[in-house]
Amino acid sequence: MHDIKPVAAERLPDLLRKMPKAELHMHIEGSLEPELMFALAQRNGLAMDYPDVAALRRAYVFDDLQSFLDIYHQGTLVLRTEQDFFDMTMAYLERAAADQVLHAEIFFDTQTHTGHGLSADLVINGLHRACVAAHAKLGIDASLILCFLRHLTEREAFECLEQALPHRDKIVGVGLASSEMGHPPEKFSRVFDRARELGFRLVAHAGEEGPPAYIWSALDVLKVERIDHGVQAMRDPALIARLVKDRIALTVCPLSNLKLRVVQDLAQHSLGRMLEAGVMATVNSDDPAYFGGYINENFSQSFAALGLTAVHAYQLARNSFEASFVDASVKAAYLDRLDECFEAFV
Ligand code: HPA
Ligand code: ZN
Repeated sequence: MHDIKPVAAERLPDLLRKMPKAELHMHIEGSLEPELMFALAQRNGLAMDYPDVAALRRAYVFDDLQSFLDIYHQGTLVLRTEQDFFDMTMAYLERAAADQVLHAEIFFDTQTHTGHGLSADLVINGLHRACVAAHAKLGIDASLILCFLRHLTEREAFECLEQALPHRDKIVGVGLASSEMGHPPEKFSRVFDRARELGFRLVAHAGEEGPPAYIWSALDVLKVERIDHGVQAMRDPALIARLVKDRIALTVCPLSNLKLRVVQDLAQHSLGRMLEAGVMATVNSDDPAYFGGYINENFSQSFAALGLTAVHAYQLARNSFEASFVDASVKAAYLDRLDECFEAFV
């Protein structure tokens, strides 16, 4: 751990905004803001179920993961053309770059959209083209992680993987998202075996609402390298020891956990306890258009609620780069920029 000098509490929000970071858990369809959703509906000649942006935003009150997924799925219906996927991704990357995200690993799924009659090619080409354009325009690095929808079958996940293979070079890894309870990771063990053979990096949502057993099986059966959410790990000391020993990153999303009632109050969030235990936690936004903020909002609100300090900020930013799927030389360059930022700040 580097020697991080104290930063006065009133300067901490500024440090959180300015520090370089990576975002490793953000579903691109969850970045679709109501304003853009209405614009795309109009462009595509589609009716919206809500009269205006304000009415739509008022509907963003959730009881749990499933109640969110139902609304989130509705929102994806406005996405029809490659340009729609491009515009959505560009809008996210503009926001991320403004939050000093140097590198984003973006979750997407094709099954939602192929279920509406779109082709996987259209989806992937739109997303990829935006990643290339954003790099040229903003300097931000972005890569794509294809998530299988766990409420669908193993066979459908295999089809999804097959459809993505012509785009192998545009996708860094695969993940597992959607309704967790009743759909344990091991349901997809053979698909993940195949993805591993194909050289994809592996992640999975586990322990958002589901039990620690789902995190164990994501690690031991799917052999993932990071756990998305993983907050339920705090109920299992042996699992915590495993995460620490193997330096498995958790991509934690505090505002998501609050809005989906995984925690009742940010002051009760386990982020600080994870760091104290030596877990490689990171902070991310999950579905920022739905959960009340982008990555910097997740940092500022959880730091305020938990009384975290510059030492925690440095550790979280460092973890985000360490846990990213970039080459060692790129990682080292990101870490240098992080160190420069902290040195300049104190
Ligand atoms: N969990 C599971 N699936 C998701 C999520 C999430 O938080 N966001 C978008 N799809
Ligand atoms: Zn997620």
